[in-house]
Amino acid sequence: METLNVCLIGTGRAGMIHGRNMAKKIEGAKLIALCDPSPENLKNAQIELGVEYIYTNYQEALKNEEIDAVIVVTPTAYHKEIVIAAANEKKHILCEKPLAMDEQECLDMIKAADRNNVKLQVGFMRRFDESFQEAKKIVDSGAIGDVVMIKSLTHGPSEPKPWMFDISISSGPIGEVNSHDLDTLRWFSGSEVSSIYSIGGNFRSPEVKEKFPDYYDTVAMNLTFDDGKLGFIEGAQYVQYGYDARTEILGTNGSILVGDQGKHKLSIATKDGEIKRPAMHSWTYLFKDAYVSEDQAFIDCIRNDTEPLVTGYDGLMAVKLVRVGLQSLQEKKIVLVDEKGEE
Ligand SMILES: NC(=O)c1ccc[n+]([C@@H]2O[C@H](COP(=O)([O-])OP(=O)(O)OC[C@H]3O[C@@H](n4cnc5c(N)ncnc54)[C@H](O)[C@@H]3O)[C@@H](O)[C@H]2O)c1
Repeated sequence: METLNVCLIGTGRAGMIHGRNMAKKIEGAKLIALCDPSPENLKNAQIELGVEYIYTNYQEALKNEEIDAVIVVTPTAYHKEIVIAAANEKKHILCEKPLAMDEQECLDMIKAADRNNVKLQVGFMRRFDESFQEAKKIVDSGAIGDVVMIKSLTHGPSEPKPWMFDISISSGPIGEVNSHDLDTLRWFSGSEVSSIYSIGGNFRSPEVKEKFPDYYDTVAMNLTFDDGKLGFIEGAQYVQYGYDARTEILGTNGSILVGDQGKHKLSIATKDGEIKRPAMHSWTYLFKDAYVSEDQAFIDCIRNDTEPLVTGYDGLMAVKLVRVGLQSLQEKKIVLVDEKGEE
């Protein structure tokens, strides 16, 4: 089978993870091009990844007929225009999460991919993590009975970037970190969310309270599903102790816990009577193998002409739930997810 030529669009933090994978670890793919308007990021990426073509403008990159597939890892606000342009140039697309800014943008992107008969996969890499996949298999086998409740949390360590305090553009942690948890709940439950009630507050950045009164750094969301299952999601930014992603699935006769706060399977005991464990510092480390599997699955679904494991529809539904969760937080009431996104 032919090797697929890949272009990476966006060579920042998450982009370089995909870039390194595509350059060295993925069978059936060759990274041949990079695109980024930042000369510094582009140059550093080219030095490290050594590709044939570099572009500062994605429209130029998409004209290159040698490119079969693109990975879109730009800030979310640019996903829509780049994905639609790539689809119109018949390039297959892996787009990072969140798929876009709102549901209409997602629908336009899905339609463009369908119209041009190209694959559109969305970057929910937890679905490719070994432990999450094992948990899904156990749930589907019925070993814990019927799923009753799913709890999922994500805490990020870093101080928010200045633009994140404006939740009209960032959606705060519900969008930044919990879109992963929303996808996890949909995936494990095999059902759609029917209502969300969110509460939250700003506990770690009091200095921005006056300028950004709506900003919250911590959120708790209660969810119900169409088929009666229950859900709970917790999110937090700037927790400082490390990166924390854990999910618990409660069934009628068992439960599954996925995730751990430790970096390694290691505890150190010392003579002062303390036991220490290094904390997980970054998502890049925790999910490094999941990103490789995600990138390999993207290439495989093109080569085998199968449906991506995480579809544009999954991306759309996560964006929809982010918006419902945020509406609930702002209006201080339960919000019903009354109409589902169209496929
Ligand atoms: N799957 C995950 O867990 C995960 C983790 C981090 C980020 N992300 C997502 O990945 C995307 C990028 O986030 P990041 O943290 O890597 O951001 P970043 O700021 O580190 O990198 C973004 C890069 O895109 C470039 N860029 C900006 N406009 C562009 C354009 N028009 N064309 C090409 N490149 C352009 C920037 O110059 C920069 O190099 C976001 O959508 C984010 O939500 C996902």
